[in-house]
Amino acid sequence: MTNIFVDGLLNDHVAFVTGGGTGITGGVARALAEAGASVALVSRKLEHLEPAAAAINENGGKAFAVAADVRNPEEVERAIAATVAQFGKIDIVVNGAAGNFLVPAEQLSPNGFGTVVDIDLKGTFNVCRAAFAQLKEHRGQILNISATLHYLGTPMQLHVSAAKAGVDALTRNLAVEWGRYGIRVNGIAPGPIEDTEGMKRLVPEPIKEKLRKNIPLGRFGRIKDIETAAVFLCSDAASFINGAMLVVDGGQWLSAARMV
Ligand code: HXC
Repeated sequence: MTNIFVDGLLNDHVAFVTGGGTGITGGVARALAEAGASVALVSRKLEHLEPAAAAINENGGKAFAVAADVRNPEEVERAIAATVAQFGKIDIVVNGAAGNFLVPAEQLSPNGFGTVVDIDLKGTFNVCRAAFAQLKEHRGQILNISATLHYLGTPMQLHVSAAKAGVDALTRNLAVEWGRYGIRVNGIAPGPIEDTEGMKRLVPEPIKEKLRKNIPLGRFGRIKDIETAAVFLCSDAASFINGAMLVVDGGQWLSAARMV
């Protein structure tokens, strides 16, 4: 895929990216860095973050790794402070940290439900809240990585669907409340993206081909597809886009009902 963006599109920006070590959000962090942003990679496990930060730095970008569990507001506040100490400010926040596993609703424990809501939804709130002062000062923006699971009913994904529906509500509410500060708040809802941990663990092999055939564009998404959407939404090209949910799924959810 060709790079459609001009060099240095995000020069002088600083991004705080949760879940930024691996998978889709790892790609988003890399893409923001390639576009010129300095990037803080944030998640629970430094062993995932450090190689990702090193790869960005070796490629001429600017990245550093900071460990924080998004479920813990104090850890998030410390990570925000560490990023400001390292790069001077934060004006882009990407909320990508997420938990997921397949489980039938009747077997989901209260703690299993709560754990995913705590990571995806409360974690997104914790990060937005802690970053607010920086975003307000620098007229920054938030990008929440959501999903399309809750647009219809998705078996074995009750907990994630509930959490992501909440994330979408948070996106819209913050867009309305914080627009007055020049803060834009948007979301991306990826469809099935190949070569991700989520696809490997969550889409059983026997239904993969059926799923692919039901995507109007006839292929799974690539991490690059999400990267380009993220760079666009974080750039001035999207300066009047606020409260939007950009679905990047090849048209999959619109035709998903016909699978069952
Ligand atoms: C049933 C499970 C479970 C499973 C965990 N739990 N895994 N229940 N089936 N497979 C329950 C546990 O039993 C426990 O409840 C509770 O959840 C907490 O589990 P812990 O292991 O103690 O928690 P923790 O160590 O914090 O880790 C939980 C987790 C992890 C973060 C949710 O399991 C996880 O998901 N890791 C993968 C992260 C990941 O791949 N993220 C990308 C997601 S992709 P009890 O009652 O026993 O105490 C994505 C895209 C969506 O989100 C779109 C897909 C197409």
